[in-house]
Amino acid sequence: MTEEYVDQALIREAGRIIREGGLVAFPTETVYGLGGDALNPSSSKKIYAAKGRPSDNPLIIHIADLSALSSIVREVPESAEKLALRFWPGPLTMIFHKSERVPFETTGGLDTVAVRMPSNRIAQELIRAAGGYVAAPSANRSGRPSPTIAKYVAEDLEGRVEMIIDGGDVEIGLESTILDLTADRPMILRPGYITRQKLEEVLYEVEEDSTILKDDCGQAPKAPGMKYRHYAPRGELTVVKGTEERVVRYINEHCHTWHGNNKKTGVIATDETISLYHVDVCRSVGGRADEETIARELYRVLREFDDEKVEVIYAEAFDDSGIGQAIMNRLLKAAGYRIISV
Ligand code: TXA
Ligand code: MG
Repeated sequence: MTEEYVDQALIREAGRIIREGGLVAFPTETVYGLGGDALNPSSSKKIYAAKGRPSDNPLIIHIADLSALSSIVREVPESAEKLALRFWPGPLTMIFHKSERVPFETTGGLDTVAVRMPSNRIAQELIRAAGGYVAAPSANRSGRPSPTIAKYVAEDLEGRVEMIIDGGDVEIGLESTILDLTADRPMILRPGYITRQKLEEVLYEVEEDSTILKDDCGQAPKAPGMKYRHYAPRGELTVVKGTEERVVRYINEHCHTWHGNNKKTGVIATDETISLYHVDVCRSVGGRADEETIARELYRVLREFDDEKVEVIYAEAFDDSGIGQAIMNRLLKAAGYRIISV
């Protein structure tokens, strides 16, 4: 299905499933989502069950029209209006104080609610057909990399949801930026395609949760979901940081040893380095300077290592400025914060 052609009969059917309390997986511009009626407590419970996700981890409510916002939040601050004007529809999630209409099952017991307006056309039409409020976490089993193609949704959720809509490849490949507007100052809880710099073009000052690029030991991250092991491939992943020459040498030496111990090895490389590795499975996530491509390819590559049953994986580290911050945030979580400087 392409962006231009959206099968209306399919959308109506999918909308009906959600309105009747069922679940539909669907594409968004960031990653595929697992959608249910956000205002129906039993739908939210089903989402947690289908994902195998702890129920204290709140869901994002997806809307298709700005007019839908006011009835699920206590108030819309001026900052949110400005941000919505600039970034919605798009990969920005904002956190508000919730209204009574939103069940605690959807917010994981919190008094606040996360809201996003996706730009993907299938997502927008589905949200309208479903009644306007679709709760949707990423459409993966808890802990696994978020799906960027429908095949990986099916791998994780086939038989657990009523319908999976195949919308082809996603555009962005990493989950939305999450911005908390309920604290004194706006704070980024999860970095994404909309960077701090872009947000600061609209808001005077934006803070960042201190756990974004660090292990959160002792410190509870403010987005409950960020405390869980995440995005992880089945093989053991280590990030290696340093000059290109040293990184390549370190990874080749270690993979050689693992190989000798009968372990299947893999490397997350870049276009610049892919030909330099001697390992079982080597994948490039793109050119080093092209962070949009790296963002889009990362989860697919992590999943491909599972397809290939790779047991030990090394990844080159990336620059953590701009979208690179979101890339490193996901990569470090996937690696359980195993990072080596060489
Ligand atoms: O791009 C996205 O945001 C994708 C697509 C499907 O829209 N969705 C997504 O949802 O990534 P999920 O459930 O995988 O991640 C939602 C994150 C979790 O870390 C959760 O803890 C946080 O948002 N979150 C949700 N509501 C929150 C709230 N009220 N306060 C703080 N964090 C919240
Ligand atoms: Mg997720």
